[in-house]
Amino acid sequence: MTRLGGAWRLTPAGVPGPHDRGGRRLTPAGVPGPLDRGGRRLTLVGIGLGHPDHLTLEAVAALRSASVALVTVKRAGDPLAAARRELIAHHAPDLQVVEVVDPERDRSAASTSTTAGYEGVVGDWHEARAEAWERALVEHPDGDAVVLVWGDPAFYDSTVRVVERVLARGAVTFDWSVLPGISALQLLAARHRIVLHEVGQPVHVTTERRLREALEQGQRNVVVFLTSGTDLTGLGDWHVWWGANLGSPSERLVAGRVADVADEVARARAAAKDEAGWVMDLFLLRLSPSLSR
Ligand SMILES: C[S@@+](CC[C@H](N)C(=O)[O-])C[C@H]1O[C@@H](n2cnc3c(N)ncnc32)[C@H](O)[C@@H]1O
Repeated sequence: MTRLGGAWRLTPAGVPGPHDRGGRRLTPAGVPGPLDRGGRRLTLVGIGLGHPDHLTLEAVAALRSASVALVTVKRAGDPLAAARRELIAHHAPDLQVVEVVDPERDRSAASTSTTAGYEGVVGDWHEARAEAWERALVEHPDGDAVVLVWGDPAFYDSTVRVVERVLARGAVTFDWSVLPGISALQLLAARHRIVLHEVGQPVHVTTERRLREALEQGQRNVVVFLTSGTDLTGLGDWHVWWGANLGSPSERLVAGRVADVADEVARARAAAKDEAGWVMDLFLLRLSPSLSR
């Protein structure tokens, strides 16, 4: 709530509130935001990890006030698309769902083995996604739109970049905003009941692809996203806090000295995949005098 000009206004962040009709839209701090130009609005909504209770109240308000939700579908039976549909059915059953088929990404070793090659492939993929979203917005021109983003849009998610590309293409125009969600990184810490760093220490966040590089740089407290099997070879003295399919019924957690738990992590990962038909995992690795032997 914001006190402005003598009147109390309810201003959930980035979401049109009851006081917005005909008036200026306000950010939560009461500062006129980038959403004041009128016209169509697109809101990227961080949805957490699939559980209906992960959505913030402002995320739910955004779903309920929108006319259309763009849901990316990677393939037939995509479990994450199904999870988004379930969230919409739960929180905003009247919201129209428009499926946007995700363009194929070039995953060939020849194209992605170097960092430059990988970045080029990802850039092409983002442009193809921007085209697909532009088409969906043109075909569904009425009312505000939402895009449901897994976890938090700030971590290893290209939605923000794709929206920037859609606008840069110039065929459609809209105001846009981002609502944060619970990230896998936060749920990992909560489930293990840990702080992601020791007192006053930094935490480095990276991908499995760049883990070895981070360790060579001297990072000693590293959160690793985008894993594909958790290769912990040579890290026996490190401590790991690992989690798979967090927030879902097939959730698995393992923690301990890598030398002691590496096999258990591999087994738990396979079990999560067997149970759900998909697996996503991440982990915190720490080398600390108090934890290593
Ligand atoms: C494309 S990134 C999206 C991250 C997301 N934006 C977030 O804030 O958590 C996908 C990676 O996030 C992690 N991840 C996402 N959901 C997860 C879950 N339910 N359990 C464990 N890790 C998850 C995995 O490392 C996965 O490879």
